[in-house]
Amino acid sequence: MKTIIEPFRIKSVEPIRLTTRDEREQLIREAHFNLFNLDAADVIIDFLTDSGTSAMSSKQWGGMMEGDESYAGSSSYFRFEAAVRDLMPFRHIIPTHQGRAAERILMGIVADAESIIPNNTHFDTTRANIEATGAKAVDMVIEEGKDPSNEHPFKGNMDVAALRDFLEGNAERVPIVMLTVTNNSGGGQPVSMANIRKVKEVCDAFEIPLILDACRFAENAYFIKLREEGYADMDVADIVREMFSHADGMTMSAKKDALVNIGGWLALNDATWAEEARNQLILTEGFPTYGGLAGRDLEAIAQGLKEIVREEYLAYRIASTRYLGRALLEMGVPVVRPIGGHAVYIDAKSLLPHIPPLQYPGQALAVELYLTGGIRGCEIGSVMFGKQPDGSEEPAAMELVRLAIPRRVYTQSHVDYVIECFEEIVGRTDELPGYTITHEPRQLRHFTAHFEPID
Ligand code: F0G
Repeated sequence: MKTIIEPFRIKSVEPIRLTTRDEREQLIREAHFNLFNLDAADVIIDFLTDSGTSAMSSKQWGGMMEGDESYAGSSSYFRFEAAVRDLMPFRHIIPTHQGRAAERILMGIVADAESIIPNNTHFDTTRANIEATGAKAVDMVIEEGKDPSNEHPFKGNMDVAALRDFLEGNAERVPIVMLTVTNNSGGGQPVSMANIRKVKEVCDAFEIPLILDACRFAENAYFIKLREEGYADMDVADIVREMFSHADGMTMSAKKDALVNIGGWLALNDATWAEEARNQLILTEGFPTYGGLAGRDLEAIAQGLKEIVREEYLAYRIASTRYLGRALLEMGVPVVRPIGGHAVYIDAKSLLPHIPPLQYPGQALAVELYLTGGIRGCEIGSVMFGKQPDGSEEPAAMELVRLAIPRRVYTQSHVDYVIECFEEIVGRTDELPGYTITHEPRQLRHFTAHFEPID
């Protein structure tokens, strides 16, 4: 059969409130044109993030009832640890309440004001946690990864030559090298196994640990299966195991590819770092066998990890993201190609060439999608990345709008509605205004900044 169906039935539903355009004009003004400030109840299709928005399975909900809420040594912790270690065979697995807590603890141990940490592309919280220690975060994705229309199959790959050159001059300042799989800020693009292996070789040559930021590891593994020679017949779980066999540790947001609404972990092989991490953990997250989570959350993660590597799930997941991306491409909307795993990224710079980068074309499109259809996407461009540590502003490498697709939440007719909204917008893109920022915080400004349209 050529129709790839959702490999699940819906057992519990949540109503969507349908707003009118007039209502949305009022609501977005009250939100200072920042989609993060909207009440979720005023959103029809919420593509703000795929993080923490997954629908859990009946087995996961069943597991929630089995949660052992003991303060120390909870049996849920041991089930969680076994499920993680089955895929990611690290020696020390430290639960945290979400990904950025793992990042904060890791950076607190390894980084200081002298440090520089390379990655293919740092996610914003990773970058912020590095910069909060005074260290510098540098991005080294391959050139193809910066070109939205390039069809390279692994646009998340690290530029290995650039990394080697960089380490030759700076190795003593680099405590870890990171690789983000898939590369969220670069368009949800995967990293190939060959690239992970080569990055590890370079790291080994300089005796620097490699840490994977592994939020979307299963989608990355499935792309390896589909696109990389030698992996077509391998089980996804085995591809995952091979990916992690090349790493010395990982940070994880379980809110993505562990199919849960909250959770994360830090895993490390180094015993000294792990001990230090557990000390940090106790200060702000909790005892090492729950780390800021309830026992029931650990149960849900353990079950989610079993479901995420099932091939029928991943086939559906990748096909449904591609369905939206292809429809947009067919109507001439420039999107980052190839279509990534968890999201479709629209190239707002090409779609809205009349809006200069520092008038935020991504924000302009995101606001218009809300006005037209109550759709909430997320700007990933100069609003998110334009502010420099010294306070100046530089255009980001790309001006994207991300439509991130929650796992197992929306059906094909929801996506057809989104496609219809785009059809309505494409004929009048030249009418969309740019934006100016009227208020912003010191860090991570995209979450709370206020905007005004420019006349
Ligand atoms: N790393 C990557 C690649 C991410 O995408 C995220 C979160 C994190 C780390 C931090 O994890 O949210 O659990 O603290 N990304 C979400 C997103 C927020 O919408 O892409 P967290």
